[in-house]
Amino acid sequence: LPPLRLGIAGLGTVGIGVVKIVQQHADLLAARSGRAVQITAVSARSKGKDRGAPLDGYAWEDDPVALAKRDDVDVFVEVMGGSEGPAKDATEAAIAAGKDVVTANKALLAIHGHSLALAAETAGRVIRFEAAVAGGIPVVKSLTEGLAGNAMGRVMGVMNGTCNYILTQMEATGQGYEALFAEADKLGYLEADPNLDVGGIDAGHKLALLASIAFGTQVDFDGVELEGIQRVSLDDITRAGEMGFKIKLLGVAQMSDRGLVQRMTPCLVPATSPLGRLQGGTNMVVLEGDSVEQIVLRGPGAGEGPTASAVMSDVMDIARGIRISTFGQPAKTLTSAPRAQASTV
Ligand code: NAP
Ligand code: HSE
Repeated sequence: LPPLRLGIAGLGTVGIGVVKIVQQHADLLAARSGRAVQITAVSARSKGKDRGAPLDGYAWEDDPVALAKRDDVDVFVEVMGGSEGPAKDATEAAIAAGKDVVTANKALLAIHGHSLALAAETAGRVIRFEAAVAGGIPVVKSLTEGLAGNAMGRVMGVMNGTCNYILTQMEATGQGYEALFAEADKLGYLEADPNLDVGGIDAGHKLALLASIAFGTQVDFDGVELEGIQRVSLDDITRAGEMGFKIKLLGVAQMSDRGLVQRMTPCLVPATSPLGRLQGGTNMVVLEGDSVEQIVLRGPGAGEGPTASAVMSDVMDIARGIRISTFGQPAKTLTSAPRAQASTV
C-alpha cells in the first residue's frame, strides 16, 4: 500500500504530540497498519516557533485551508480548535477536496458535527473524532464498535480534566479555582478560552457528542442543561466531604419517555465510589447498555500524549481501511430527538 500522508493543522499541545508519535513510532505504525504513516505538510500561526520536535522535512502552509487542499495530503488532521473560522473552513475544504478528516475539536463537532458528517458521507469520506471526547480514553470506539450490539440506556461521566483537577486540588490544597488555572495550563489541559472548561461548556460538547452516538440522534448541544464549577466554593467542598460526598462536574445523558435528557452540572457523588475517587485530570466514562449492563472507562482526559494517542487511533483506522462512521451509523439516519426537561427525570 502507498504511505498514508497526513497534513496537520495546529502544532500546539495536541498537534506536536501527534508529530512526536509519527516520528518516534514510524516502524510500529507501519507494522500495525501495513503501510507507512507520514506527515507531508503542517500549518500553525507562527512559523518560527520552537515546538520541541523537528519539522524541517514537512511543507509549511500559513493557511490551513491551503493545507487541507494539498494533493500530497490524504488525511487532514485538525488540531487548531474553535467552532468557527479556520477550523471549520479548513475541515469543509478538506472534505470538498476528497480528504478524510481526523479532529480533536469537540467545539466544532458539537455545533457543526451533523452537517460536517453529512458532507463527508456525501463525499465518501470519514470524519473521526476519538480525541474530542475524554482525551486518551477510547470511548468513541467503545460505543461505535465494542458496544455496537447494545441498546444504550445511559452514558455518564467526568469529561473535563481541568475541572476535575481544579476540584480535587481545591480540596487537597485549600486554594480557590482561579489560583489553580496556571497549574492546569502547565499540564496542557486548558482550552484556549478557559471559560469553556470551568463553565462546563467543553464537557457539555463532549456529552452531546457521546449522546448522539449512544442514542442515534443528531448532536444537540443546545439541549444540554449546563452549569460550570465557578460557583463551587471551598465551603461547598468541605461540607460535601463532611457528609461523605465529593463534588464532581458530572455529565449524564439518557433517553426518557419525553425525550433526550442531557445534563452537565456539579453533582454530589459518594466519596468512596469510583467517581468520587477520581483525581486530577483523569476522566471517567460510564456506558450502560442492555446486554453489557455497565462498563467503566477511566484514563487521562487531556494533555499531549493522551490526546495525540486518540488522534492516532483514528489515523490508524484510516490507514487500515476501517471506515466506520463517526457516529456509529450513517449521519443521514440520525434522528432529531425531542428534548426532555432534566428535572422531569
Ligand atoms: P493549542 O495548544 O492552543 O494549539 C493550537 C494550535 O493551532 C497552535 O499551534 C496554533 O498555532 C494553531 N492555530 C490556531 N489558529 C490557527 C490558524 N488560524 N491557522 C493555523 N494554525 C492555527 O491547542 P491544543 O490544546 O493543542 O488543542 C487543539 C484542539 O484539540 C482543540 O480543538 C482542543 O479542544 C482539542 N483538544 C485538546 C486537548 C488537550 O488536552 N489540550 C484534549 C482534547 C482535545 P501557534 O502555535 O502558531 O499559535
Ligand atoms: N480542556 C479539556 C479538559 C481538554 O480539560 O478536559 C481535553 O478535552
